[in-house]
Amino acid sequence: MSDPPAPETPVSEEPSSADTPNRRSWLTNVFTAALSVILVAVPAAVGGVFFLDPILRRKKGTAAAGSAQALDGFVKLDITPDSLVTDGPPVASTVIADLDDAWNRFKDVPIGSVWLRRQADGSILAFNSICPHLGCSVNFRRGENDFHCPCHASSFSLDGTRTNETPPRDMDSLDVVIATGGKPQADGDELWIRYQNFRRGTPEKKPI
Ligand code: FES
Repeated sequence: MSDPPAPETPVSEEPSSADTPNRRSWLTNVFTAALSVILVAVPAAVGGVFFLDPILRRKKGTAAAGSAQALDGFVKLDITPDSLVTDGPPVASTVIADLDDAWNRFKDVPIGSVWLRRQADGSILAFNSICPHLGCSVNFRRGENDFHCPCHASSFSLDGTRTNETPPRDMDSLDVVIATGGKPQADGDELWIRYQNFRRGTPEKKPI
């Protein structure tokens, strides 16, 4: 007589004990990958904004300046045209403006100074007060009625022409405009200037 057949082993619908660790491992990998992306992307985005900030701000600043004043590129001086005596002595004026470096904007700071003089014909001359020789400040000598730099004795006439061989060129003249409310007007009460600095020690007047 033969043995009765062995009972079949039931097939379970539940995941085997080997599947659970695999699924856990897959979830761990997904989580790790997502975390890695966040850890790389967030600092990169913050860094990008930080480094692009000067460019973005410059664009914004240019637009604001353009809409805020009619004389684009000019700075209004704290002095009126009437205060300049015709054919009188030159008058010094500090130039106040916003100053931008790579990351910051400083409001209303002194960025330089100029000499102003009304000539006999009524026109106004403006000069950067920086000596074109090596960058000291040029003074007005009342006794000699001329401009003079004390560092190496450069001297200039009142129209800015050099009167000795020390400076490589004449004083650096600047564009000046008489205006009212930021708009050019011959009998206006505002003086606006295109303030620029120039390379020192060279015969040519080159903006820097
Ligand atoms: S810097 Fe003015 S004379 Fe030299």
